[in-house]
Amino acid sequence: MSGEAIKATGLTKVYPGGVLAVDHVSFTVNEGEVFALLGPNGAGKSTTIGMLTTTLKPTDGTALVGGHDIIREPEKVRRVIGVVLQEYTADEDLTGYDNIMLMASLYGIPKQVAKDRALELLEMVGLSSAKDRKVETYSGGMRRRLELAMGLINRPRILFLDEPTLGLDVQTRAAIWDYIIKLKQEYGMTILVTTHYLEEADMYGDRVAIIDHGKILDIGSPDELKNKVGGDMITLETSGLVDGAQNALKSLNQVRSVELKDGKVIIKVSDGPSAIPSIVSALQGQGITILRLSMSRPTMDEVYISYTGRSLRDESGSSEEAFVMRRTIRRARA
Ligand SMILES: Nc1ncnc2c1ncn2[C@@H]1O[C@H](COP(=O)(O)OP(=O)(O)O)[C@@H](O)[C@H]1O
Ligand SMILES: [Mg+2]
Repeated sequence: MSGEAIKATGLTKVYPGGVLAVDHVSFTVNEGEVFALLGPNGAGKSTTIGMLTTTLKPTDGTALVGGHDIIREPEKVRRVIGVVLQEYTADEDLTGYDNIMLMASLYGIPKQVAKDRALELLEMVGLSSAKDRKVETYSGGMRRRLELAMGLINRPRILFLDEPTLGLDVQTRAAIWDYIIKLKQEYGMTILVTTHYLEEADMYGDRVAIIDHGKILDIGSPDELKNKVGGDMITLETSGLVDGAQNALKSLNQVRSVELKDGKVIIKVSDGPSAIPSIVSALQGQGITILRLSMSRPTMDEVYISYTGRSLRDESGSSEEAFVMRRTIRRARA
């Protein structure tokens, strides 16, 4: 697999009626990483996942998933992937355990093997004690965890998660991410996850691709993306600042700009931690005492705004409403 779990090349989807949902997207997901597709509602995230998981046919371009071509070898692709869709797929009238067993039978997993795995997965997602309850009695967080367990029944090497935390409260979202990180750390699983939560991409994504209007605008680790946007901001309160000190700061290699604002000195640098020592000594050289120093990184929101010209926070409301109106797709019983 040469270290690349997924390699998309010019992947494109035009829906009947002419909607260009995904527009010549190319990216690589490395083995064992959490790769986050970050973008607003309608950006093309689910469509991208649909194509990579072989349920949607690309209009143009292709991708290798686990080394297999999604167009020429869809069965091979399906064998190495797990998929957890945005919509719930569990049958409300069945228990959690029975839903997992049903999934196992769809994969043709022998019953005894499936039993062991189902119990192990239920344990992993903390649903052991609720396994014999009907899914209709589950909370939103429990349903998400069940969907996650169902997506893992075939022991996938590559896992696709489409908005796994959509509409959940902050605590439940954190719990879901604990499981996702565990899959990466303990099983070395490669995980492609979509989200429109900036904090999630920031905290958990090894690399993040910003997607908007079907196009990937940039890809990088959260740190790389933040550095591109403008680096760190150091705010100083001093015993008084003379022009000479301002010039001394400006002449430092790492300093991009120095501003005086509300009696404070605001310094922009590419990398805060490495710039602080020289800033401190430059000021000391001018006989200036630092009373207070703080540093802040650009937020993912600032990164997002710089690429798209608008804030993702303004847009997330509508998708949460849509989520409330979700419908559980009932799977035909085997
Ligand atoms: N089955 C479909 N037929 C026509 N247009 C669609 C269909 N599914 C999605 N779209 C459109 O494609 C675009 C991308 O949708 P989607 O991939 O669901 O985005 P996301 O998952 O990022 O919210 C949107 O404009 C959406 O309205
Ligand atoms: Mg979607």
